[in-house]
Amino acid sequence: MTTDLLMALDLLVSVLTAATWVGAGVTAAARRPRTATALFAVALVASLARVWSVLALAGAGWWFVQEKITLALPLLVAASLVATALAGPRLLRAARRADTASRDAVKAPVVVVPLLGAGYAAAAGIVQTFLIGYPADPGTALLLLAVVAGAVLGTWRAMSARVPGLRSATAATVVAAVLGAALVFLPSAPATAEGSAPEGGAAMGAMDMGATDLGAMDMGATDLGAQPVSHGHSASAGSATGGTPRPVTDLRGPATPPPGGAVRHFDLTARMATVTLSSGRKVSAWTFNGQVPGPSLTAEQGDLIEVRLRNADITSGVTLHWHGYDVPSGEDGVPGLTQDAVPPGGEFVYRFVAEQVGTYWYHTHEVSDIGVRMGLYGTLVVTPKGAAPTGLDLTLPVHTLGGVLVTGDRDQSLVKQAAPGTPVRLRLINTDNTPHRFTLAGTPYRLVAVDGTDLNGPGTLAKVGLRLAAGGRYDLAFTMPPDPVVLKIDDRADSVRLVPEGTSPTTAQDASAATESPSTTAAQGDSPTTTQGDSPTTALSAAAGAGAVPAADSQTADWPELDLTRYGTPAPTPYTSRSRFDRDFTLVLDRGLALTNGKPAYAHTVNGLAFPNIPTEVVRDGDLVRLTVVNRGRDTHPWHLHGHRVLVLSRNGHSVTGSPLWLDTFDVRPGEVWEVAFRADNPGLWMNHCHNLSHADLGMMLHLAYQGVTSPFHGAHGG
Ligand code: C2O
Ligand code: CU
Repeated sequence: MTTDLLMALDLLVSVLTAATWVGAGVTAAARRPRTATALFAVALVASLARVWSVLALAGAGWWFVQEKITLALPLLVAASLVATALAGPRLLRAARRADTASRDAVKAPVVVVPLLGAGYAAAAGIVQTFLIGYPADPGTALLLLAVVAGAVLGTWRAMSARVPGLRSATAATVVAAVLGAALVFLPSAPATAEGSAPEGGAAMGAMDMGATDLGAMDMGATDLGAQPVSHGHSASAGSATGGTPRPVTDLRGPATPPPGGAVRHFDLTARMATVTLSSGRKVSAWTFNGQVPGPSLTAEQGDLIEVRLRNADITSGVTLHWHGYDVPSGEDGVPGLTQDAVPPGGEFVYRFVAEQVGTYWYHTHEVSDIGVRMGLYGTLVVTPKGAAPTGLDLTLPVHTLGGVLVTGDRDQSLVKQAAPGTPVRLRLINTDNTPHRFTLAGTPYRLVAVDGTDLNGPGTLAKVGLRLAAGGRYDLAFTMPPDPVVLKIDDRADSVRLVPEGTSPTTAQDASAATESPSTTAAQGDSPTTTQGDSPTTALSAAAGAGAVPAADSQTADWPELDLTRYGTPAPTPYTSRSRFDRDFTLVLDRGLALTNGKPAYAHTVNGLAFPNIPTEVVRDGDLVRLTVVNRGRDTHPWHLHGHRVLVLSRNGHSVTGSPLWLDTFDVRPGEVWEVAFRADNPGLWMNHCHNLSHADLGMMLHLAYQGVTSPFHGAHGG
């Protein structure tokens, strides 16, 4: 059973447990011994099932059960035993006789209170999992115990005027509550996380769980040796490794390109505008240069990319972040960390060398949840030096704009002609907050690059769904067949339709109409029958081998999802899961009550905390770092580290058996555990966050800082 399923089952069982214990108590109070006994029996079975489900879940890792094993389960077992001992015999006796006397007997507090108490205990476990989650701390545990005890005492008191030992029990409860509250709410020292020693997959104890503030970003020298991290608020100290502290503002790109490179200059002005989609629909958006997506930036490897960002009227400010591009930290566009957000009337010039080849994108990082959703994004494609452009190369950012899915700037099918035999490359970019599923029908193809990095030995694909994480990119390559090729998004209408040049008049008309007068083609462009024409489908299938290539109009919803960890051919990597890691960080993702930006919220949490209270991960230049990301919540979290590509070591304990997988954004689905690694070779201050930007906005982000790098910016946000 998958961890996700086990988590759901455990939740179901815990709800059943709480409901049946409470039901038994209520029906006993209502003098219905038979019903009460039946519910009591179900409650007992449910409680046993809960023990099983928690133990089964423990097999997936301590992170999934920590609070259950340390508090919820012992509490439930103890309360169930008490209820069974006190209420059980009385209920059974009354159920057998069912006369008035026995009916009256079961409404006695000695029966009702323990039954309800077990229900309260079971409910406390659910509350703990949902509101607090991982890790459970002594403070919240005490508070929960106090609430359960208070509820039991209150029930008892309501049922009878004389409760033995009420005074002292109440006093003990109040003491527990006060102590718990003190532990929870008294501020602890600001903290950084230094990462546990190697082999520390579950060694969360090594992380300092105190609160931090942005002052902690000014970490100067913190001796990260075997000592606990010192909590530097001072920007003055020098680095323990001998260097002087470097402000992130010094970590900038060069003013001139490397020899042989050209300067690629772009001007981007952020402003509000109404954009007209291909269907004629108008959407009010936040744009770069009045368009969504913003201008497509392209360069050749070795060029210097220079972008002058201006802000016309976006009052909350803008920046440019180069998603997946490992620029110098001072060019990374994180407000409050690497620069101040550009206010209306302001500007900022970004410069960096186009070292990485591949498909990337850029977006604002200031109030990025709203900013990106409103349209402040565009594509960045870098091609190898001197490579003559051949064939058809389409960059296709997919975005939900004003509630409709747009591919590039179109809210209808994009129809393109290509001569059979033409090499085609489709660059898919997910600029949304949630994953998209792509299918390609009409030709075999290869997934040649992920997140800008070429895969090793990618095999031919057909009839699979490609799930692309929020923020991620897939490059698909194939040779144009003599038949139409259709790309679908989320198994809905065609998004892109490639038609062979000059096959049928209908097709050609359709295609040219789509490009020349977009507003007239809505109906035709979406009709799968128009492009069938007289194309030799069977010939294609035969040529492609074994008829495995689905026709362009095929149903795609039941195509299985490609498992990227098994696709392609293995190749040597600079490090593996057996490497010795200098730093080991574990991020347990969940939901819970936490302060985020000073306000209490039902936040998206990392190790029980929300931004900016999540300890900054501190690394040294040259460190080999392992990140373990665990999702014990119900949402998918596309995890994204700035400034570095990470190598996937394993997912759910299974190592990658296909091509090495270098990603900048990886989807951590409910119940999943990802182990990834990277070399800390890009000094600076970096965001490490969920790329569902509404989750990031609700706390799910933290900083990764190189020792000795300081920030002069004191924004209370990271975008
Ligand atoms: Cu594309 Cu910090 O994000
Ligand atoms: Cu998330």
